[in-house]
Order: sequence, then C-alpha cells, then structure tokens
Amino acid sequence: MKIARFSRVGFILAAAGSAVGLGNIWKFPYITGEYGGGAFVLVYLLTVLLIGFSIMIAEMLIGYMGRKDTVTSFENLAPTNKHLWKYGGFQALAGLFIMIFYSVVIGWIFHYIVTSLTYLPSSVQEAETTFNLMLHTDIWTQLFYHSAAFIWITYVLTKGIKGGIEKMNMVLMPALMIILLGMFMYALSLDTFGRAFDFMFASDWSKINSEAFVVAVGHAFFTLSLGMGAIMTYSASMEKNSNLVRNAFWVVFLDTTIALVAGLMLFTFLYQYGAGPAKGPGLVFISLPAAFYEMGIIGNVFAVLFFLALAFAGLTSSVSLVEPMVQYFIDRFDWSRVKASILMGLFFYLIGIVALLSNIDGFKEYLTWGDKNFFDWVDYVTAAIMLPAGGLIMAVFVGFIIPKSKVSAIMKPQLGFAFEAWYFSLRYLTPVAMFIVMLSLMGVF
Ligand code: TRP
Repeated sequence: MKIARFSRVGFILAAAGSAVGLGNIWKFPYITGEYGGGAFVLVYLLTVLLIGFSIMIAEMLIGYMGRKDTVTSFENLAPTNKHLWKYGGFQALAGLFIMIFYSVVIGWIFHYIVTSLTYLPSSVQEAETTFNLMLHTDIWTQLFYHSAAFIWITYVLTKGIKGGIEKMNMVLMPALMIILLGMFMYALSLDTFGRAFDFMFASDWSKINSEAFVVAVGHAFFTLSLGMGAIMTYSASMEKNSNLVRNAFWVVFLDTTIALVAGLMLFTFLYQYGAGPAKGPGLVFISLPAAFYEMGIIGNVFAVLFFLALAFAGLTSSVSLVEPMVQYFIDRFDWSRVKASILMGLFFYLIGIVALLSNIDGFKEYLTWGDKNFFDWVDYVTAAIMLPAGGLIMAVFVGFIIPKSKVSAIMKPQLGFAFEAWYFSLRYLTPVAMFIVMLSLMGVF
C-alpha cells in the first residue's frame, strides 16, 4: 500500500494549522485578560520556550520513529513493557474530548460570520445581551452551526492526509495569516496600541497565583497542540530525513507570533473603541463586536474577516484533534478511513450537544457540578490535566525509555551542542514543572 506523506511545507503548515487555533485567537486574549496581562504572558512565554519547544521535538520524534498511530508508536518504541507503554498512546483520546466544546465554539463563530455581514451591536451591553441570548437560550442556532462544523471536519478527515488535511491547510493557513496581518497593521496605526502593548508585557506579579500558573502552563500545551498525539500523528506522515528541530521551530514560532499578534490587535481595538476588556470567553464575541461597531462600515468588513480567520484557525485545529483517533482505528482495527472519520465525528458531535445544552437555561441546572458546567469542565480537565499528563509521559518516554543511543542518532546531528540541554529538559525540567502543576491542581499550594 502506498503511504501518503506530507510535503515539507505541507507538514509545517498542517502542524502550525493544528497549533494555531481557537486557543490563540479566542482563548489566549481572554485568559490573559482574566489573569491580569503581563506576568501571565511571561509565564506562558517561558513555558513555551523552556518546555513547549522541547516537548514539541519529543512528540515529533515519537511519531517520526514510530510511523504509526499513537498507541502503536509507543508500543513499537518501548524496548520492554510494551503492553504498559502502549497506554501512553491513549492520550489521543484527549483530542476527541477537546472537540466536544471546540466544535460548539466553531459553531458560534460561523454564526457570527453570518450575522456580522449586516449587524453589529451598538454597545457592549447590547453585545452581551445578544451573545447571552444565543448562548443561554438559542438551542437551534447553536445546533445548526455545530452540525455544520461537524460535517466540514468529518468530510476533510475522510479525504485523508494529502487530499484532505494538507490541502485544507495549504489554503486556509496563508489566508488566516494575511487577514490577521492586515488587521494588525491597522491596529498599529491606532494610538491605543501602546496601551495594549503595556497591558500584555508589563508584568504585575501580584496578579499571579497558583491558578494563573497552572492555567499558563496548561495553555502553553494547549496552544502548541501538545500532549494528545496530534503532532505525533502528523509526524508519522513526515517525509523521511526531515529536520525535526527546524519543523518544531517553525510551528512554535508561528503559533506564538500569531497569539501575540492577535492579542495586541484585540486589546488595541478594545481600548480604542472603549469597549473595555470584557472578562471571560465572551471577549471576542462581546467586547469585540461592539468595538467593530464603533469603526463604522469598515467594522463590518473587519468583523466578517476576523470571524473568518477565527473559523479557519478552528477548523484546521479540529482535524488534528480528531485525526489521532481516526488513525488509531485505521491502523489497529483495519477500519476504512471513511468509517473511522464518521464514527469519531459522531462521538464529538453527539457529546458536543450535551456541552451545548449545558449552557442553555433549563438544562444547565442538571449539567453543572461545583463552579463549572459540563462545557467548562471538559475545557478545564483537558487543558489543565490531560495535556500536561500527556506531556509528562512523552518527556519520560523519550528521556528515559527509548534508548539514548537511538534518540541521539537522530537528534544529535540536528541539535548539535544543544542536544544535551534538550535531553536534560526532557528528563528533569519538564517532569519537575509538570509535578508542580499537579501539586497545585491538588491544592497543595
Ligand atoms: N492548538 C489548538 C489551539 O490552540 C488546539 C488543539 C489542536 C490542540 N490540536 C490539539 C490542543 C492537540 C492540544 C492538543 O486552539
């Protein structure tokens, strides 16, 4: 059987397409707002550099050496205890779980593309009412667009690595970058750009508590698509003799740049048009549309383009969230790609409806536990717990389990003198950081 492989650029764009997602444009700005800006951004950037980059290379390496779905790759590469290590591959499940709320959010974005053509709210209050009406009462609109997202994502997956995933990323990623760059240039010309810059880069350590720390580390994993087999699965289709370090660098660079650009742009708009940084997930759906309204007619154009870019980012990430489990069923159960794609799609689609309902008045009461509803729980458990756990397993696996000689045969020529630093980071730095995250999750400090 002929194995489809990504082209060199195709791989980088697909992996970057996975990394650049709702996390960058929707989530990063609002959690930055929630946790007070500068210091939070710094913790996030340090995590990306010191831990994220190393794990990105490690995750690529497992996929590249393993050449199969995540479970089989772990199994193949473990020298002993294969039957235990294969469970490391089940981190792929986290992607399907993320899709439960991710697809619902993409649905909101589709809805906003359509409504922004003709309507923008004239005040933050109105924007809030509009958003909350959709979120808490409008089952049918949300269901309609959630279904559209499901169909699109599943369709691309049925087309496979080359004809589906690579093709989509080759078009949508450049489009996304052009839109964001254009809007960023406009933001640069506004005089509130400086304030946005200060907000994002002036550190106020009093706002950093252990929760902010956990959220920053969790987000670094989330935004880089680490810890659930997406990058690993794509890497199994990398060309032979690829340079993993260069690929990882491009993905980390594009992802971080796009998050910072999106954040600076959004906060500039919010300051300029007096909408104020609304707290929470409503940021791009509430404060931002009100800011676009203040711009006049160009605001409508910007709004549509912005939500289009957001949809592109979300869709390219979505396929990477589901593909690992699709690959798993193809490799291990001999399912056809079409069957695997549709069944995985149905999984997140149907449970996604529960997540959607957990925001709806009248249902929410039954779908809330403690301070979070089902929707928020899925987000929290995946980003704060499952991804760091997946990262920890990969760091230990590459750092201690795969024989060092095999790892260095591939990585030493690429990393040169940095090889030992990378290896050290996997062996000690990452496990310790993950351990601290776990402790603070358990409320130890
Ligand atoms: N990185 C994406 C974002 O920032 C989300 C995502 C896609 C993801 N694939 C992933 C997160 C794999 C963790 C693991 O929105």
